[in-house]
Amino acid sequence: MEIIKNPEELQKRALEIRAQGKTIALVPTMGYFHNGHLSLMQTARPKADVLICSLFVNPTQFGPNEDLESYPHDLDRDAALAEKNGVDILFAPDPAKMYHENHSTWVSVPDLTQNLCGASRPIHFRGVATVVTKLFMLAQPNVAVFGQKDWQQLAMIKRMVRDLDIPIDIVSQPIVREESGLALSSRNVYLKEDELAQAPNIRKGLLRLKQQVDDGIVDCEVLKENLKEFYNSEIPLGTIDYIEIVHPDDITPLKKINGPALCAVAVKLISARLIDNILV
Ligand code: PAJ
Repeated sequence: MEIIKNPEELQKRALEIRAQGKTIALVPTMGYFHNGHLSLMQTARPKADVLICSLFVNPTQFGPNEDLESYPHDLDRDAALAEKNGVDILFAPDPAKMYHENHSTWVSVPDLTQNLCGASRPIHFRGVATVVTKLFMLAQPNVAVFGQKDWQQLAMIKRMVRDLDIPIDIVSQPIVREESGLALSSRNVYLKEDELAQAPNIRKGLLRLKQQVDDGIVDCEVLKENLKEFYNSEIPLGTIDYIEIVHPDDITPLKKINGPALCAVAVKLISARLIDNILV
């Protein structure tokens, strides 16, 4: 496996690969790999001749009081895992090389990013859309793989690719979980023992909500209120950032469930903010 740190070098290599008639798959990440990341690599591997994985903790998607400085990293461990999972090129650029000093161009998808995570992280999605666009231009992929854990991010990228006629197939991968049900996240390493004991109740609450829908409750206010009560009693260390039921493609809030719906939640524990979602 080759490690490339320079964006220009990656683009040159990618254009050469494409000129040879070969295809490229891209898995964008911020590193500190867990099985969720590895499942994206495994899905991407058979989809193209060359698999590129990017590892970049993108500063423009972190707010001023977020964990940019403390975000976990271990390049050697990640490189070994990427190689084992079929990655041909690991792209791990320096922030100074990724953004020019007077970077002034932004990609944003306002309609899909006002609510859910966008409400408490106002510049987050603009940073994600911009860096993903840059990664697309640098890696020249035919296909790119994203996780359903960050559902709003996935919906935004699909919309961006459609709206801007970007010739890349966007593939999504289901959420990979601990046995307890807790969705894997690089940020789970921040959690203390008592938080780890309560965190799986995020998933339990979502399954409970799905059961209530299956039992015939379709009023979203009732469903959200029930889930709020469950979280308040079963996750006493947490505060609810949001509980929303939205249309899975355009992320607009629903009043009643009478078609495809996504329940998405964010709960702030003491050491980390965790997100999860379920299709109902
Ligand atoms: P990161 O949080 O490292 O996630 C990289 C990819 O892994 C995303 O597509 C995310 O949805 C997926 N992922 C994370 N946890 C997962 C899980 N438990 N199961 C399945 N997939 C999972 O998301 C980002 O980085 C960044 O915003 C990025 C897109 C790289 C832009 O900077």
